Amino acid sequence: MDVPPFIIVAIDGGAASGKSTSSRILSDRFNLLHVDTGSFYRAITAEFLRLGVDAADLPAVHAAAARLRFGTRLNGRSAQMEIGGRVVLDADIRSRTVNDHVSHFAAIPEVRTALLAYQRGQADVARSHGFRGLVMEGRDIGSMIFPQADFRFFLHADPAERARRRAREGQQDSIAERDRLDSSRKTSPLACPPGATSIDTTHQSLDQVVELMATPIAHRLSAA
Ligand code: DC
Repeated sequence: MDVPPFIIVAIDGGAASGKSTSSRILSDRFNLLHVDTGSFYRAITAEFLRLGVDAADLPAVHAAAARLRFGTRLNGRSAQMEIGGRVVLDADIRSRTVNDHVSHFAAIPEVRTALLAYQRGQADVARSHGFRGLVMEGRDIGSMIFPQADFRFFLHADPAERARRRAREGQQDSIAERDRLDSSRKTSPLACPPGATSIDTTHQSLDQVVELMATPIAHRLSAA
């Protein structure tokens, strides 16, 4: 009997580009583990802040990063990061303080390295829980974490529209500043990787954006 294919879908893009909502929908539709890597960078940031580690104090960041022990808990179809056996709560990682600090920690190569194997290991989590694959969202998934992913999408939207989306979510977030930091860092900057499908979501409804990604995925799965 043929084993159905395990598929990896990478969705990258700036803050409030539509990644999270569309990847959750794809996760539900195709039974894919949903992995929001931004939540991992946020969880680490919340932990560093709790420990009083300053992003400018690189030796302290390196030492703290080396001590982090990660685990994964499932929340429905989504992977939630555990640090030292504790889930970092959504309320703690979506705060204004974390918004303001996360890009500074994410720019440090040792912080990115500390997360690399953990992120790739989410494919094993997905397999061991019987998912058909995973949909992983972030900034460097199609370029660095899974450059061989079956599908690589890059979502973008104009900054004014993204600011409106965040305001509607009731969040205070300096999107332009975070994108500037995320795009200009030396290690794994935010950019559309060669060969990825770039989608401008500014004037498209959520349904339209989802269909652009879902159509080739459904085609692949039905061809199997
Ligand atoms: O997706 P988000 O806005 O919640 O991500 C928070 C921050 O994490 C973002 O400003 C940059 C960083 N990040 C990253 O550097 N690489 C990723 N793959 C995901 C997020």
